[in-house]
Amino acid sequence: MTEYTEVPSEQAFRQYQRLVSEKLGIHLPDTKRAMLGHRLLKRLRALEIEDFDAYFQYINRRQNEAELTNALELVTTNETFFFREIQHFDFLQQLVLGSFRRNSATPLRIWSAACSTGEEPYSIAMLLSKYCLREWVILATDVNESVLQQAKKGIYLDDRMSLLSDEFRARYCRKGTDEFEGYLRVIPSLRRRITFEKFNLIEDMAGVGNFDVIFLRNVLIYFDEEGKTAILNRVAQRLKPGGFLFTGHSESFHGVCSQLESIQPAILQRRLGTG
Ligand SMILES: C[S@@+](CC[C@H](N)C(=O)[O-])C[C@H]1O[C@@H](n2cnc3c(N)ncnc32)[C@H](O)[C@@H]1O
Repeated sequence: MTEYTEVPSEQAFRQYQRLVSEKLGIHLPDTKRAMLGHRLLKRLRALEIEDFDAYFQYINRRQNEAELTNALELVTTNETFFFREIQHFDFLQQLVLGSFRRNSATPLRIWSAACSTGEEPYSIAMLLSKYCLREWVILATDVNESVLQQAKKGIYLDDRMSLLSDEFRARYCRKGTDEFEGYLRVIPSLRRRITFEKFNLIEDMAGVGNFDVIFLRNVLIYFDEEGKTAILNRVAQRLKPGGFLFTGHSESFHGVCSQLESIQPAILQRRLGTG
């Protein structure tokens, strides 16, 4: 049986660092060497590949693109939960009941730009379904195909939905039975309201359209300063003038983009007259 070294050599780690930066824009700091080893080790074991150098060669062979996708998906951190950072949902509710009631001839457009397993766009959809009088659409995207598949199914462990109110739980979810005992599923009529698509934030964004609100939360922390600035400036272009960008509360983007004005912690607004 192969004895595995659990941490990539410094040289191997540099190769992964470059690959992850090129494909996802994500900066893996040197402190993440052991974490990377831990996440990739199960693939080495499954494929009986002897070390991280050999696995790197393997995923870079042309016919092994599926394995490259597997490796990149293991690198992303997908932690999320319903109504995470509740201040954004309170703010959205005020908008929907206030200034967003105007312009009701056009649908309200919201983009959840790193949606992970779907808790974020479903939280938005529940809120809009209850409070929004206008037509609305939600685009939910992520670079990781596996989390998108889970998001589309909309099935969640009941005890991971603790921030969901009893009202929303009763109105928008159904309890699983038999092998789905202990799970809840978002109702089909709400699932259908969200378009889930694969999208890499380092790609050209011109095709995604313009939005009244963009959720770009807890993803730019994984990019270096240059990457953050580039993405933030491109995302700002996708906001309608006066539209809002929600970022993670642990992230700071003060002064990173001249088109965006910081109006509250983790809420930026596209300046009017910048369209
Ligand atoms: C920590 S989760 C955040 C989920 C949600 N926005 C929240 O705040 O709860 C970060 C997500 O960003 C996605 N991600 C990482 N790099 C990306 C990229 N280059 N393009 C699009 N999504 C990316 C990951 O796949 C992951 O699902």
